[in-house]
Amino acid sequence: MFDSGFGGLTVARAVIDLLPDENLVYFGDTGRYPYGSRPHDEVRDFAAEITEWLIENHSPKMIVVACNTASAVALDGLRSSADIPVVGVLEPGLRSLMKVTVTGRIGVIGTVGTIASGAYQTAAARMGGDVDLTCQACPGFVEFVERGDTDSDQVRVLAQRLLAPVREGKVDSLLLGCTHYPFLARTIGEIMGRDVVLVSSADETAFEVRHLLERSDVARPGGAPPVHRFVSSGDAESFAAIGTRLLGMAMTNVEAHRWDDR
Ligand code: DGL
Repeated sequence: MFDSGFGGLTVARAVIDLLPDENLVYFGDTGRYPYGSRPHDEVRDFAAEITEWLIENHSPKMIVVACNTASAVALDGLRSSADIPVVGVLEPGLRSLMKVTVTGRIGVIGTVGTIASGAYQTAAARMGGDVDLTCQACPGFVEFVERGDTDSDQVRVLAQRLLAPVREGKVDSLLLGCTHYPFLARTIGEIMGRDVVLVSSADETAFEVRHLLERSDVARPGGAPPVHRFVSSGDAESFAAIGTRLLGMAMTNVEAHRWDDR
């Protein structure tokens, strides 16, 4: 599994909870974070490089792209080049949204890269539901979360401004289409109002992973305890400190990976 940084640990948590016997290698590309504001080609190159590194060094049976931006711009390419299943967070998130909506008016918020890619719009059309989709980029949200600021006046003012078009779209359910946004759920929920259901991709992605493993009959049987490994291309110590908090379990074994070592 990989993400541009820590945020994908919300997906890791959901996978560990649902599939407690599986081994997991999580790569956080904190040395090259953030992805959301980078050109799509660059994100595609990074995603391909990490996927190749994971396959070469860990021989996984599946890759999970736990980053919305990378899922939005790189998933199709990764799927065609890897000979193992590659799961992203877009389709599972949209599926949850479509299950929840009553009116068919749904919203997705994400980074500039994710929303500008049009990937949610394309996936929603492909999934064929009769829905009216409002998409909105929320530049600045990730930076607030990184600073640990999830409910100050400043973040509220920004959220009020950015979410205004989504409110106007009269959505009844809203997908938090970025790894960091679940940490802003309270603020976003207050602005959207109690009638709007907030949906995160993490749980549905974990269900998708379980479904694919079971379907291919490659789920790891219980017995020996699983191994969870964490790798960071940035500072391993701060990854361990922040990761322990986000994942809710001690992360003592973060390995450092330097891209320029290659
Ligand atoms: N992981 C990114 C995403 O889900 C958010 C952080 C970033 O911009 O790298 O879109």
